[in-house]
Order: sequence, then structure tokens, then C-alpha cells
Amino acid sequence: MSTTGQPTAVLRDELRAAIHALFARYPTRRAVTLPALHLIQEKLGYVPLAAVVELAELLELAPAEVQDTLSFYGFFKQDKPLGQVRVWVCRSLSCAARGGEELLEYLCEKLGIRPGQTTPDGRVTLEVAECLGLCGGAPAMLAGPTVYTHLSRETIDQFVQSLQDGNPPGATQVDRDPAKQRPDSGN
Ligand code: FES
Repeated sequence: MSTTGQPTAVLRDELRAAIHALFARYPTRRAVTLPALHLIQEKLGYVPLAAVVELAELLELAPAEVQDTLSFYGFFKQDKPLGQVRVWVCRSLSCAARGGEELLEYLCEKLGIRPGQTTPDGRVTLEVAECLGLCGGAPAMLAGPTVYTHLSRETIDQFVQSLQDGNPPGATQVDRDPAKQRPDSGN
């Protein structure tokens, strides 16, 4: 809540300006929905319901229309912010046949979380993916923009070590208000 008693906008000026800048690149405001959702998630680490309402207003849509687009894709987080690095481990056939599930379990143990959860320090959100399109290099993992093929315990150890060293691959800088958006492990 602001000092004037008005609710504080979730989409701050810079983010609103970035969304407005998309208008010229798309034929309609409705067509901006998906790229704007990506921008919001990139900036805030998630897309809370309040952001959906504010985005709908910008796009001159009903909040339910924006929410429909958001919920169609499994990509967007709505309940709490993502970790700095979003990690996807493939669990589809080629990867599973080459030990992917065991490696996922190993990574879960090392991070102390299950798929869908974020580490208590907010560094990593772990997800499972259906085929990352890297079957030739199975088992495969994506950490931020970094691709890991022929995944092994050793590469997982190196990845976790890079986190502990504070040098994670592809960490995303998110604009979080720690008072409002504290990630936690209680998923
Ligand atoms: S099955 Fe894992 S990348 Fe295709």
C-alpha cells in the first residue's frame, strides 16, 4: 500500500514502458499478451494475479482473458517467484532410458528440493520437462540458457558447485521487492 492509501502497482513504470513498447510490434494489443507475460515473469520472477489484472487493463482486455492465456502455458509461475536459475530436467523416453530419472533424483538430493520447488536461498527452481529436443544428447538438462547433454553425476556436481560458488549459469536478474516477494521452499 502506498503512503496515499492506494494499492502499489505491481507493474512499475519501467515494466509498463517495456510493455507499451511492444504495442508497435504487434497488430493488436491482444497479440501483446504472451510477450508481455514473458516480460513480467522475466522481471518479477513470476506473474502474480495482481499483475494479470494490471496487464489486462493495459491491453484493454478482461483479466480472465489474460489469465486464460497464462494458464494455457505451463511456463508461467503465479504463486511465487522463480529462483534465479530455472532448471529443467527431461523425463521423456530417450532420457529416461539413459538414466535420466536417477539423475533427476540425484539432483533433487543435492538441492534438497523436489521438482516444482525452489531452494530456500532462492537460487534454483527445479522443473521436469517433456523432451527438450536434445534426445541425441540424452539425458539432458537445461539450466537457464545453458544446455547440458550427456548429463552425469559429475556434471550435476559441477552445476551444484557453480551455485555454491555464486556463479550459476544463466542467472536471471529479477526486480524483486524482498518485502513482498520472498521465495520459500514450502511449495
Ligand atoms: S527425450 Fe529427453 S531431450 Fe528428448
